[in-house]
Amino acid sequence: MTDPPPPTSRRALRAAVEDPRPEPGARRRAARRRGIVVLTVIGALLAWGVIALLFSVLAPGDAQPAGAPAADRGPAPWATALPVPTLRGATPPEQSAAPAEAPAPAPADGLCAEAAVTEALAAGDDAAVIAAAGGAAAFRERVASGAVPCIDLADPARVWVVVNKQRPYAPLEYAPSPLVSAGTAADAGHAILRTDAAAALTQMVAAARAAGAGEIGAQNGYRAYGMQRSIYDAQVAQRGAAGADLVSARPGFSEHQSGLAVDIVPCDPACGTLDDLAGTPADAWIRDHAWEYGWIVRYEEGYTAITGYAYEPWHLRYVGTDLARAYREGGFHSLEEFFELPPAPDYAD
Ligand code: DAL
Ligand code: ZN
Repeated sequence: MTDPPPPTSRRALRAAVEDPRPEPGARRRAARRRGIVVLTVIGALLAWGVIALLFSVLAPGDAQPAGAPAADRGPAPWATALPVPTLRGATPPEQSAAPAEAPAPAPADGLCAEAAVTEALAAGDDAAVIAAAGGAAAFRERVASGAVPCIDLADPARVWVVVNKQRPYAPLEYAPSPLVSAGTAADAGHAILRTDAAAALTQMVAAARAAGAGEIGAQNGYRAYGMQRSIYDAQVAQRGAAGADLVSARPGFSEHQSGLAVDIVPCDPACGTLDDLAGTPADAWIRDHAWEYGWIVRYEEGYTAITGYAYEPWHLRYVGTDLARAYREGGFHSLEEFFELPPAPDYAD
């Protein structure tokens, strides 16, 4: 059995806890302390008000040059230092949940309003459209800027169409008309082309012959969607999908479907294969002179990352003499660069 604590200690403890009565004089001291606290708070608020007033007068935000663009003006230093309160559940404007909008197209530069352009477009006279734009270099620049909405780089009936792995035909089974024989003395594959491309090929082949570069034959010209599917499927069976995609377009994505592309072969004395072209006099001549007849070598060596295809010295694309000259003189190596389009190394899916 333990002894109870001394009664004096218990009483003192109970008194300290249960008896709220202040000791004499404590009421006055507490009132004095409350007065000091109130005065301190008022003084602090007054000091903060004076500091804020000084900042608003001396702040550097309005000292920026008057002509500086709004986007160059960052927030005032103190604005970033102080946290910005947000309401729970409210979305601040800069964190809007709406998807980011595509950049706005450049304002139209007026070309599409010119009668010479609207009439030439309606007549299908691509050369006249280019002339009305100030020539091919100006046409390229104006179209690339995005300020000429009536010039559609996806229109497969125009010489300026750009088809690549990111730019299929619409509709996917587009077919040009009319189509004629490629018009070469040596036709290694019953090639057919659009009439303007066929005439230009005939001229180019004659010029190569006259220059001593040998006989050039046409192997593949226009290929319909279904034919392209057969060719692509055969390549997949032979090389696998990744290998096929480097050498053959999927149906709906081949320049051959436009009637504006041709594959050429050397034909001295008999026509060889596509692989026989590289290193021949015809190959060298084509690289230097094809542009004079409106053709470009579409898939150059070293540009797979842009075009999506391995080097094809035989695959020529007709763009017309005006654009081909601007392409040559501008030192371009792909139509993607020429029209400042994104590279197209791969398909979207
Ligand atoms: N060989 C080219 C890329 C085509 O199939 O169109
Ligand atoms: Zn080809």
